[in-house]
Amino acid sequence: MNILDIIENKKNAKDLSKEEIEFFVNNYTNGEITDYQAAALIMAICINGMTQNEILDLTFAMANSGDVLDLSDISNNIVDKHSTGGVGDKITLIVMPIIASLGIPVAKMSGRGLGITGGTLDKLESIPGYNINLSVEEFKKNIKDIGISLIGQTLNLAPADRKIYALRDTISCTNSIPLIASSIMSKKIASGANSIVLDVTCGKGAFMSNKTEARKLAKMMNLIGKWAKRKTVCVLTNMDEPLGHSVGNSLEIIETVEALKGNMSKDVEEVVLNIAIQIMNLSGIYSVSNNRKKVLEVIKNGKAYEKFKELVVRQGGDVSYIENPEKFEKAPVITPIIAEKDGYVEKLDAYKIGKAGEELGIGRQKEDDVIDYRVGMTFNKKIGDAVKKGEIIAYVHANSPEKSIECVEKIKKAYKIGNKKISKKNIIEII
Ligand code: URA
Repeated sequence: MNILDIIENKKNAKDLSKEEIEFFVNNYTNGEITDYQAAALIMAICINGMTQNEILDLTFAMANSGDVLDLSDISNNIVDKHSTGGVGDKITLIVMPIIASLGIPVAKMSGRGLGITGGTLDKLESIPGYNINLSVEEFKKNIKDIGISLIGQTLNLAPADRKIYALRDTISCTNSIPLIASSIMSKKIASGANSIVLDVTCGKGAFMSNKTEARKLAKMMNLIGKWAKRKTVCVLTNMDEPLGHSVGNSLEIIETVEALKGNMSKDVEEVVLNIAIQIMNLSGIYSVSNNRKKVLEVIKNGKAYEKFKELVVRQGGDVSYIENPEKFEKAPVITPIIAEKDGYVEKLDAYKIGKAGEELGIGRQKEDDVIDYRVGMTFNKKIGDAVKKGEIIAYVHANSPEKSIECVEKIKKAYKIGNKKISKKNIIEII
């Protein structure tokens, strides 16, 4: 078998066999296939798509490209959660400590930013000392001892996905259903959880810009979950505007701390509650009644916040930053954006915000780009909010005056202030 024939087949929109897919995955993982050959095949997949069978074969080939964890010695009720990505999406950081504080074991392998979407790992690494690189033994020990571990893809888990994911980011192949479904589900299968809840984001700041595509992705991931014998549920959530009040790595950790203390914006709260309830329903530990009340309880009594601190300490992070978020280094140039007229926010375009964030240095444009944890944006006004001329609607946190000026202009263009009070639904449906 030879990679050029495989590329040729997909270029001509032919279905790939299981053997061809395994040949590509195994030989790209071990370095026999080059990045440029892999890029050609990935681009052909992005353009011509894959059948259901090809997607299943790709997922299992990627899941089996490294170790597949067996966590049954810890529990058979281990849960995992993953988002298809969004702008300002800090839901994992809020939900997982809530779930662990409810006594449901959490084993979560997260990813870095992809395209305009932020990455949980980059956010965690903005906490000085936080170590995402644990061994399998440390990962398992943390789940056993404190009920939670949030790590990166550094174990030998789905190494094929790690390479393909990084490559896709640099060749503009992020928004493809076969590639997203196989990327997410290969990691979930390899990291050993029994139940998986997927936040399928939909809208301007997501890879799926409309409900039809989001539903297709959700159904595909549910099907893969069924094949892998994992209980799987997808929650479709709105990503037309950024989630919550901040976008940026340390800024989102600060918002997470506030959320875990009970101060959540409406949109974040709605998504957090819905995802948490779905996880509880699937876990096999809780019945399906009264779960909303139980989630609110662990936020109110401080258990979820304490669990987040325990996680940070256990993974080497400096917990004084969580106890006193003022310690996070601030960006040198913080600029307010002022409303130019009275009205209501009709639009806050998550795509434009994500692009502005990329320019500020929140994420990477090239694989080896260094990100700046301090930079980002904070929003005082979001869709549906009333605005008065002269009010501060947002702030830009930049590392230079030039970047600040550029970003302020972009954010002004992302806002639309009009006369209509728009109401927004954050949960679209559960599949
Ligand atoms: N998250 C992933 O892990 N992979 C994708 O392709 C998109 C979001």
